[in-house]
Amino acid sequence: MNLEEKFSDGTILTKTFFYFKDERDTSLGKQIIETRLLIKKSGIWNVATYQWNESQTDATLELNGLNTQFSWIDANGKTLSTLYHVPTQNECMACHQSNSTMSPLGPTATNLNREVVRNGIEVNQITHMQSMGILDNFPVDQVHQMVNYKDKNASLAERGRAYLAMNCAHCHNPKGWDTPAQEGFDFRYDTPFDQTGIQDDQNEIRNNVVNGQMPFIGTTMLDEEGVALLVEYLDGI
Ligand code: HEC
Ligand code: HEC
Repeated sequence: MNLEEKFSDGTILTKTFFYFKDERDTSLGKQIIETRLLIKKSGIWNVATYQWNESQTDATLELNGLNTQFSWIDANGKTLSTLYHVPTQNECMACHQSNSTMSPLGPTATNLNREVVRNGIEVNQITHMQSMGILDNFPVDQVHQMVNYKDKNASLAERGRAYLAMNCAHCHNPKGWDTPAQEGFDFRYDTPFDQTGIQDDQNEIRNNVVNGQMPFIGTTMLDEEGVALLVEYLDGI
């Protein structure tokens, strides 16, 4: 279930990108790069992104995209760096499209269906939003619950599907980008396995990911841990 039509005019969804300066000690703080916005006006989602300044005191509107060099220290004490790309407005659309219109991606019922702590108590996030009156009443037990792909207690099949859902399904679904939709893939978590297209194309999927050709954009560094999981999952089918 996608909740995108249910947001009222004036809704602003935000997403902020940052690196921890040193992943071994997060108390050393983070460097915020950009804050992306989706703003609903007259039924249409508008996009904007704000780039944060070096001293982290202010952020300015950036509509044309840019590249900025970033470095940080990873959990193993290694200094890593990358040329970080702030997307242009057209690039937002490349990922954020559903039936060729701009659309939020994250707030699906499946993604929201998780335990959270509110007012010091662990509650189901959907139930909590319903009790606040900001979400329609629908039965939560009919919504899928996605596993965390890093959760070793979950089955390999569930973890593999969760990874594909998080990283690939926003383009590879029937309402996504035309061309990939025509490849016949539907990587959404709640799509029955025999309709995903995974079974017939394991090798193609594996090769595209291992070679860094997929995801189609936004790929500068290989997610080694995630790719290893995906390969294990595909090899086991
Ligand atoms: C490479 C693909 C990609 C590009 C390019 C991209 N986004 Fe997103 N965006 C995502 C995905 C996937 C999610 C949901 C999952 C997540 O948050 O990681 C998301 C989530 C968001 C959210 C949180 C609300 C939601 O839809 O889940 C906002 C706000 C957002 N993006 C704004 C933007 C804006 C503005 C741009 C362009 C400046 C942009 N995005 C470019 C893939 C992308
Ligand atoms: C930003 C959108 C986007 C995302 C995210 C994305 N893809 Fe794709 N995918 C495409 C497009 C566009 C094509 C068609 C490419 C072409 O024709 O060159 C494609 C094609 C493919 C193909 C077929 C390639 C071929 O040689 O025909 C595979 C397999 C694939 N994607 C797998 C994945 C996997 C696995 C992920 C996640 C790790 C992923 N994609 C994420 C847009 C995307």
